[in-house]
Amino acid sequence: MKVLVIGSGAREHALAWAAARSASVDLVYVAPGNAGTRQEPKVQNVAVGAEDVPALVDFARQYEVDLTIAGPEGPLLMGVVDAFNAAGLRCFGPSRGAAELEGSKAFCKDFLVRHCIPTAEYRVFTDPDAARDYIRERGAPIVVKVDGLAAGKGVTVAMSLDEALQAVQSALVDKVFGAAGERVVVEEYLQGEEASFMVLADGEKALPLASSQDHKARDDGERGPNTGGMGAYSPAALVSASRQRRIMKEIIGPTIAGMAKDGRRYVGFLYAGLMITADGSAKVLEFNVRLGDPEAQPVLMRLKSDLIQLCDAALAGRLDRCVADWDERACLAVVMASGGYPGTFSKGHVITGLPAVEQASCKVFHAGTAFDEQGNIINTGGRVLSVCALGETVALAQVPAYELVRSIHWDDVYYRSDIGYRAVERERRRGLHREMNQDDAQR
Ligand code: AMP
Ligand code: GLY
Repeated sequence: MKVLVIGSGAREHALAWAAARSASVDLVYVAPGNAGTRQEPKVQNVAVGAEDVPALVDFARQYEVDLTIAGPEGPLLMGVVDAFNAAGLRCFGPSRGAAELEGSKAFCKDFLVRHCIPTAEYRVFTDPDAARDYIRERGAPIVVKVDGLAAGKGVTVAMSLDEALQAVQSALVDKVFGAAGERVVVEEYLQGEEASFMVLADGEKALPLASSQDHKARDDGERGPNTGGMGAYSPAALVSASRQRRIMKEIIGPTIAGMAKDGRRYVGFLYAGLMITADGSAKVLEFNVRLGDPEAQPVLMRLKSDLIQLCDAALAGRLDRCVADWDERACLAVVMASGGYPGTFSKGHVITGLPAVEQASCKVFHAGTAFDEQGNIINTGGRVLSVCALGETVALAQVPAYELVRSIHWDDVYYRSDIGYRAVERERRRGLHREMNQDDAQR
């Protein structure tokens, strides 16, 4: 069969790579893809933009594509699944109506409360004075979120009243975010540790994917501006088996059931950004209607089951008969970015040191890369590469991942040097704990 992956990031490279490994797949197209997908065996780039929905439908029809997977939220929010279905084509992902979980924070919050799913307390405002009054009444720290998509820049975690009032001013008065900022959600500040919880949903049931965590801040020690993610790892020990069961029961189950009840059946990948608070309970910070990037890269590296079979089963409403098998090893991904990201950066630098032959336990997924006229691979975006390695533990995956990172160069390359530190620290504490127990047993 033929598969089409929509998008051009490292998540889409990982999706195309995983799809190409399926025994039932002869060819994977990626629209538009990048230099990494262009080099991938059984994978072919096509010159169609990820948000050109009519051209995507035409391509899938003309080239007899059996299954399309939309990587990013953009095409999903433009209704790519509805357009494919109207043309009698299969596209894996939520419909336009179901994608509203990510498209509108106000919709998402109202949905969560209506279905008794744990989330931070909040109010929605269009009037700046009312928003200011509420913020003064609640006090800082407090969080201000613009309603619509804002390329990761719409959330202000305000430690002071001034910061929160400034966020209201930018969105509701200065209209910095345009229509996306016509409404804002003001919500309670939650303290804890974040986890990314991703599932595959078939409209009624959900299959959890391996746990993961990402690092959203640009610089070491969670400092600097917020980004799409500078690295990730799987599994995340924070999400223990018992906590996973609880998240499935209290958050994912009611979400899938609630969407079905509201006439917005949810089929596709669903990503819940969760805050695990001190008492151990999980609250929803946000939903994304796609896989996380970079979380997808380590998670798909660990997936031993056939991705295409899982997507087929979800589209057919047969997920209850599925289990997903995972590599027991951990996987860690380090994002190599263009210096200056998430702000302005320079493009066109030649990337050297990419491995000619990859070891089975390492993989470089590409994001903002292209071939220049001389056949060199150059940087073309903010996030450029996701360098992944498997290892027995997160600590043991970190070593080969950074070895590979250090062998790759271009002018103005930037990456964090501490990806996975929380997990490594947890592993170290557990190891010490085990040693202490063994000492006790010997005594
Ligand atoms: P969101 O896009 O809603 O996930 O927000 C982006 C980031 O802001 C999250 O990954 C958190 O780090 C932070 N954040 C969002 N909501 C809250 C909250 N209620 N309390 C504390 N931090 C938050
Ligand atoms: N890494 C977070 C996201 O994909 O939104």
